[in-house]
Amino acid sequence: MVLEAVATAVWAMLPAYVPNNVAVLAGGGRPIDGGRTWGGKRVLGDGKTWRGTAFGIGVGVALALALDVVAGDVGSALGVDLPGFPIAAALALPAGAMAGDVGASFLKRRTGRERGAAFPGVDQLDFVVGALGLAAIAAWGWFGDVFTPAVVLAVVVLTPMLHVGTNVIAYQLGLKDEPW
Ligand code: CTP
Ligand code: MG
Repeated sequence: MVLEAVATAVWAMLPAYVPNNVAVLAGGGRPIDGGRTWGGKRVLGDGKTWRGTAFGIGVGVALALALDVVAGDVGSALGVDLPGFPIAAALALPAGAMAGDVGASFLKRRTGRERGAAFPGVDQLDFVVGALGLAAIAAWGWFGDVFTPAVVLAVVVLTPMLHVGTNVIAYQLGLKDEPW
């Protein structure tokens, strides 16, 4: 059923979606690469900071645990059986999302893109690949139960739309320097 797949996809990915937005709000301070360069370019750039990454992961984990508390009530209101988050998944989804975003910045710098440059496709799906990849490694059984082919399809279709939408809003609110 389409509603079930969409609801499960959004629910299961919330702990992976929120860290990026939290990092935008919390970012600043020392960059992860400490200003180091590789081949004449920054390793990651000033847009990947310890503070943004730590707050992003922390809030993502807290959100997963909070969703666990309300999954039963929200699920019965929607008439959908929503998944819970075992601790391995609650950690892996936000950590994987942030790792995917950091990995994308590494690729952006290697391909000559300055901080903030758009990298269509990569910008919208880097954190999905990171989150799903790490969750699959850390919580394989749970991952297989939750991320059926229909749910994965819903994630791949919906995420770019949600990502573009939230970033345009963050840009218009003056929270982000570019609308991507
Ligand atoms: N941010 C952070 N730490 C992260 C991710 C993001 O501090 N791990 C903050 C930074 O202030 C960053 C902002 O969120 O500038 C926007 O994130 P993003 O668009 O991912 O970074 P960019 O500045 O666009 O840099 P890049 O080109 O490397 O993606
Ligand atoms: Mg950016």
